[in-house]
Amino acid sequence: MKFLTQFLSLALLAGCVTMNSCTSKKETTEQKPGIEKTAYGQLPDGQTADLYTLHNADGMSASITNYGGIIVSLTTPDRNGKFEDVTLGMDSLAGYVKGTPYFGALVGRYGNRIAKGKFTLDGKTYSLATNNFGNHLHGGLKGFDKVLWTATPVEGDEPALKLTYTSKDGEEGYPGNLTVEVTYTLQKDNALKIDYQATTDKPTVVNLTNHTYFNLTGGAKRDILDHVVTLYADKFIPIDQTLIPTGKLQPVAGTPFDFTKPTVVGTRINDSTDTQIKYGGGYDHGWVLNGTGDSLKLAATVYEPTSGRVMEVRTTQPAVQFYTGNFLDGSVTGREGFPYKKRYALCLETEHYPDSPNQPNFPTTVLRPGETYKTTTIYQFSSKKE
Ligand code: GLA
Repeated sequence: MKFLTQFLSLALLAGCVTMNSCTSKKETTEQKPGIEKTAYGQLPDGQTADLYTLHNADGMSASITNYGGIIVSLTTPDRNGKFEDVTLGMDSLAGYVKGTPYFGALVGRYGNRIAKGKFTLDGKTYSLATNNFGNHLHGGLKGFDKVLWTATPVEGDEPALKLTYTSKDGEEGYPGNLTVEVTYTLQKDNALKIDYQATTDKPTVVNLTNHTYFNLTGGAKRDILDHVVTLYADKFIPIDQTLIPTGKLQPVAGTPFDFTKPTVVGTRINDSTDTQIKYGGGYDHGWVLNGTGDSLKLAATVYEPTSGRVMEVRTTQPAVQFYTGNFLDGSVTGREGFPYKKRYALCLETEHYPDSPNQPNFPTTVLRPGETYKTTTIYQFSSKKE
């Protein structure tokens, strides 16, 4: 890191902006891949957060801060080659510290909900914060989205940012010292790959994800109701009024949850005759991905007709939470003073099923000493004519 800082200072003195090429940053699609590091601001406890901007040869960029491992922006091309940000986010570190509904964040230890903030493992019951209508959500009061990660930039044709964090035994009520490593890699093919890894010294539960809010219009020009979504899942995970799974899986066929063919998001999102739509306030459910095993499988495809932007999501995880920004209400003022209103973004959080620690029939989220938790998710961007 010391070497990096020295190199950066020299590079800046020489009038260079990128670490790799020392050429000036141009709005061109032929830049050299590299990583740019800038100071992002100071946290209330005095620690400093940085912002790392990864860019590839095709002109795509991903800005990530080591505060919460947050993806601050992702620029991808529309059908005319225009690069725009496809995420919701804040203008400054202060905005994130003040609080957002997990914009761009790394979520852990347990992404999604644990019923009543309790689970029993090997005969011992653990109590967690009940920070969401009586349930535990996204790791608790100070989850992985609110801690400072140690960042290591990795230069190359496919620049990467390795983030590490050690969560102490008992942090947020979870057992075991958990050593976590998350690597963001900006690939040549306009894909952002996220590799998650974790080990523990005591049995614990883990479910890591990323909570980026996507709006493929670029710059969140309007809501996402016209986005066309395909989810490669024949079943979804029904929930109760507090968004906790009932424990059963339900076929999507014949319901507003059938996205097995490309479907306009807004078509059935307000179908008040459907109890599940009512409970979710729209879509806020886990879909069980078709195909088994730990290999990468296509989870979702999203197409935005006016820009032509396409996003494909691949994952090794068994499920994806499709959340349509139902809780956004304009109260969070985001980038450039823009209030993010209801359904101004959609999230595709690849993960294990919600509340798995309390659901014996769901695939396990238990991690034991000697085992390595390993998952990968790839968000790939392209565009099409129509
Ligand atoms: C997840 C949940 C939603 C909501 C958002 C954050 O996606 O499933 O219910 O809590 O996080 O606002």
